[in-house]
Amino acid sequence: MNDFKKYYLFSPSLRIAHWVWAIAISMLFITGIYIGNPFFIGNVGYSATFGDLHAITMNYIRLIHFSFGYILLAALILRFSILPFRKADRLIIPKIWTKEYYDNIVDTLKNYLFISSHHRPYIRNPLARTAYFFLFLLLIFEIITGFAMYGRSNPGGFWDKIFGFIIPMLGGEYQVHRWHHIIAWFIVLFVVIHVYMVIRQDILEKDGEVSSMVNGSKFFETTPSDISDI
Ligand code: HEM
Ligand code: HEM
Repeated sequence: MNDFKKYYLFSPSLRIAHWVWAIAISMLFITGIYIGNPFFIGNVGYSATFGDLHAITMNYIRLIHFSFGYILLAALILRFSILPFRKADRLIIPKIWTKEYYDNIVDTLKNYLFISSHHRPYIRNPLARTAYFFLFLLLIFEIITGFAMYGRSNPGGFWDKIFGFIIPMLGGEYQVHRWHHIIAWFIVLFVVIHVYMVIRQDILEKDGEVSSMVNGSKFFETTPSDISDI
């Protein structure tokens, strides 16, 4: 048995936020796709006697979508509010101003493209950091466009005042719907690749990657190259 050293990385708040947004995004995508194309129209067309068997209405699906919209917003506020306190919680910042960032990108890419059999050990590799950074931008975009559309049902109200500006900026409500829909697919693309990469990393490097988002720790035999970041 080789000697693995344990590195504690993710605070409980970060882990809670991660699983909350994982659930929220899954629900938002499923309900959002239904909103965009309501292939099932609830109890419309059924007699009153059988209407209750078809109670999943658009109204209900939209309520679920908006509720998880608030939950996603809460998870992101939690995630960003812990940034100042622990260095390891700032691993979502890609250090594009350093030479190591580009060296490490090349090192990781070589491994992902099957040119080298291993990459150097990282507490979080630069490609992952960059992907998370852009994912957060996409999520913020979904929140702004989502709450802007939501605000339209109460013109002059809270959300309309805060995010209403985005509607004319994107060229009207139809375009806001379109962009909200397109970005939803990019988020799902991230999720599919993310889950694959996390499991792949766990199997190939045996660093306890998957469980790190549960217990907060990863395991390395040799000191990770980006150790100064924690
Ligand atoms: C909707 C689904 C998901 C989304 C949007 C998502 C998003 C993210 C994000 C943004 C991070 C960076 C965390 C941070 O520093 O704040 C992350 C890390 C991580 N996620 Fe997920 N995740 C999802 C599902 C999953 C699933 C299903 C697993 C388990 C198989 C998983 C395992 C992990 C692990 C182990 C990390 C840490 C990896 C590292 O250090 O690079 N995630 N995820
Ligand atoms: C990851 C996050 C999200 C995803 C994947 C997502 C997905 C979607 C999708 C696919 C649609 C259908 C768009 C169309 O074709 O017209 C939609 C509609 C909508 N979403 Fe989201 N959404 C997200 C976050 C949010 C948030 C945070 C809110 C804020 C409340 C929100 C509010 C809305 C509203 C108001 C609509 C239009 C509903 C309607 O026209 O009846 N979404 N969403």
